[in-house]
Amino acid sequence: MTQKLLRGRLLTFHRAPQDGSDTQAYTYLEDAGLLISDGIIQGSGPFDSILAKAPDVPITDHRPHLMMAGFIDTHIHFPQVQVIASWGSQLLDWLNNYTFPEETRFACEDHSHRMAQAFFDQLVAHGTTSAAAYCSVHKTSADAFFSEATRRNMRMLGGKVLMDRNAPADLLDTPQKGYDETKALISEWHSKGRNGYVITPRFGITSSPEQMETAMALGAEHPDCHIQTHLSENKDEIAFTRELYPQARDYLDVYQSYGLLRDNTLLGHAIHLEPREVDALAETGAHPVFCPTSNLFLGSGLFDHRNLTARGVQSGIATDVGAGTSYSMLQTLKEGYKVLQLQGQSMHPLQAFDWATRGNANVLGLEDKIGTLASGTEADVVILNSSATSAMALRMERAESLAEELFVLQIMGDDRAVEEVYVSGVAQKACQDRPAGVVR
Ligand code: GUN
Ligand code: ZN
Repeated sequence: MTQKLLRGRLLTFHRAPQDGSDTQAYTYLEDAGLLISDGIIQGSGPFDSILAKAPDVPITDHRPHLMMAGFIDTHIHFPQVQVIASWGSQLLDWLNNYTFPEETRFACEDHSHRMAQAFFDQLVAHGTTSAAAYCSVHKTSADAFFSEATRRNMRMLGGKVLMDRNAPADLLDTPQKGYDETKALISEWHSKGRNGYVITPRFGITSSPEQMETAMALGAEHPDCHIQTHLSENKDEIAFTRELYPQARDYLDVYQSYGLLRDNTLLGHAIHLEPREVDALAETGAHPVFCPTSNLFLGSGLFDHRNLTARGVQSGIATDVGAGTSYSMLQTLKEGYKVLQLQGQSMHPLQAFDWATRGNANVLGLEDKIGTLASGTEADVVILNSSATSAMALRMERAESLAEELFVLQIMGDDRAVEEVYVSGVAQKACQDRPAGVVR
């Protein structure tokens, strides 16, 4: 048995804080021990009490830094690592001019493997230990994604996109091919180690009704697989979707009518929603995903978090790289804060950090495995330094509470604030503990 004891300040959430004074929603310890055995959290508490239970276990002292559950990104595109920061257009032009051409390169196995390494390096460097990712249409890209996730022992969700129209020819499958390859990928990767397969019709524009039928069959045959797609991101996208699916009551009905809405469905963006669509989200338990840096970058619109929450809809929050402009969930929470500010809505830093950890785990149905530092869950941990830059250190001189410190991290933090990351209990940055082959 491999055991280790981490020492530092510890913050973990038990439920979403109602407001900044909701101290029952979380545990915060000034000097904590986090005991890890074979990649599983064995216990946590005041350092002296944990040390008394495990006196001979090697200690890594992270004081004065903050130990939290690793960040979880609920919507990201693995083949877009070289698309991020592409200038000047809104969604449909951005897809046609930058994204689709780039994704054609993932037909190549070597390219897919190189990019998978780079992608996971970026996630880890930014403190993200789990994600729900879109691969390209090519089976090679999903194979590369899962083999790299497996090599690193990261809890990862992903799937090859199903897309059979309205894109370059070498980026299209067919309903049958998409079905067959998805079946093969599920049998090769789903529930193997920490992997989960996500059935991934890209969106209505690139999937014909015949392909939606196959996505429906896949969903019915694999109820434990997540489903992910895009919803109501951009006005032109919505208009084109309505033309392509004239019988649908609204955009969401394209997916609803094919049985694709359930509580393990993730719907990226969900910005311009009709009241009926919000009702349907509430009834089915499907989850919208807020992608603030992307929504601002593509000029897509403002996510109405308050309205969704008021209707009992639980949303994820995500980077959406490469329309998203940062891998950092800290930067994502920053931009999310601003988007809500523009609408007179608020996000307290305690709510923000809960959202990027336990909240996103809950949206994924994985709170029993990741997102908190609870005993028995997987030891994915991020160590955050709220004085990582001189500007942050200066501001921290005047911070008087945990909430203030978290807000400094949220507004000023990025990968520089990520001091260390543990994946399944293994330190990713410290040289002695790095898994073989990690490029940095
Ligand atoms: N809608 C369909 N595909 C995509 C994509 O790759 N990125 C974004 N932001 N929206 C999409
Ligand atoms: Zn997306």
